[in-house]
Amino acid sequence: MSILRINGGKALDGVIQVHGSKNSVLPILAASILSQGETVIHNCPDLTDVNAAVKILERLGCKVRKEQNSVWIDSKTMIKCDIPDSLMREMRSSVIFLGAILARTGEAILSLPGGCELGPRPIDMHLSALKALGAEISEQNGNIICRARELKGCRIDLATPSVGATENSMLAASRCRGTTVITNAAREPEIWDLQRYLNKIGARVYGAGSSIITVEGCNFGCSAEHRIIPDRIVSSTYLCCAASAGGRVKVTGVVPRHLQTVTDALSAMGCTVITGDNDIYIRAENKLKAIRPIITRPYPGFPTDAQPPLMAACLKAEGTTVFVENIFQNRYRHVSELIRMGADIRVEGRVAMVTGVKKLCSAPVTSTDLRGGVSLVVAALGAEGVSEISALWHIDRGYERIDKALNSIGAEIIRTD
Ligand code: EPU
Repeated sequence: MSILRINGGKALDGVIQVHGSKNSVLPILAASILSQGETVIHNCPDLTDVNAAVKILERLGCKVRKEQNSVWIDSKTMIKCDIPDSLMREMRSSVIFLGAILARTGEAILSLPGGCELGPRPIDMHLSALKALGAEISEQNGNIICRARELKGCRIDLATPSVGATENSMLAASRCRGTTVITNAAREPEIWDLQRYLNKIGARVYGAGSSIITVEGCNFGCSAEHRIIPDRIVSSTYLCCAASAGGRVKVTGVVPRHLQTVTDALSAMGCTVITGDNDIYIRAENKLKAIRPIITRPYPGFPTDAQPPLMAACLKAEGTTVFVENIFQNRYRHVSELIRMGADIRVEGRVAMVTGVKKLCSAPVTSTDLRGGVSLVVAALGAEGVSEISALWHIDRGYERIDKALNSIGAEIIRTD
């Protein structure tokens, strides 16, 4: 069992480079099967979720080669259209392959993703979008079967701006006959990155970043080279680490406007935050103070994925900070672990009230999910003594060697595998 042993209370100092975005590369890996040429992806993070997506591509018959942070995909050889249960279970976001496989082959068979650590994860919006485009969908023995003789452009009105449903709609619509207009689309930077990639392989997609996306379906499929945008949640997490531990840190290779709500919150807490073109400098040397409520919302609102690390950075801030989680039902599972470290947190439904304590103590704690797990790292860096964090596989899904990255700026973390 892998464990992180974090000797907390050491101020951080230095420069840390952020890797490519997990939530950007996953839909782009799925989109690569729409290209009948070769795709080269740069700035691809080395994460277990990415490895799971690569296994799916290989299972579908694509040739994939990974070298450091670049991945080559040749999808000309794709022959299969199903993803078995074992691969679907490795990564819940595998549902993002649905629209792409359907568009490429006219048929997609995936095992139903089910819930996850964050609560129920329905895919009703993904399915109604594909139905609107002309797919026939049925369920059999725990599998979802999508078939379409021909997909036709249409209007897709999403009930809420779901990231995954927007991506699946874009993927399926990009190859169908006619024009598709997606309304109430998610506006996350990762959607914009997917649009950029799709257009590079010959699709015609416009409007990503706004809530209306237009996809002119066409037959395409050229080779492309693409660089993934930096991970805004990893950037936010490292800034929260600096706020919790104290010190001076520069996070580089970032797009500062992608995490504006997080840097605004850290400034309001009393940190000095200076943004450059591609970097963010944070100085946390004074006592932190509580801030006005943090309410998670779809982009450009405060990201649900940054809620757990920011909460951990607030644990010693003077006063009470209120968090309201609006995206996932079950996103406070890290709270009971933080309480073991001496945090004062009360949860009532969607609301968590965090009252700053004088000090945090070390404790053995367990990651409950990806961002919840990393919130324990943030808290442990600001706690006295050696904390032990287990169930690291959650953290490895989204952070490339977090121990190495944080040790390079003065943390004292030992990983035992
Ligand atoms: N929802 C439905 N029906 C659907 C789709 C979504 O009810 O058909 C609900 C979900 O249950 C959730 C809400 O809508 O309550 C938002 O879900 P969304 O579809 O936007 O999320 P997602 O596509 O499943 C992506 C990220 C998540 C991130 C969310 C929100 C990827 C691979 N995952 O998930 O990332 O939290 O958007 O920003 O892009 C993470 O990286 O830790 C992570 C969980």
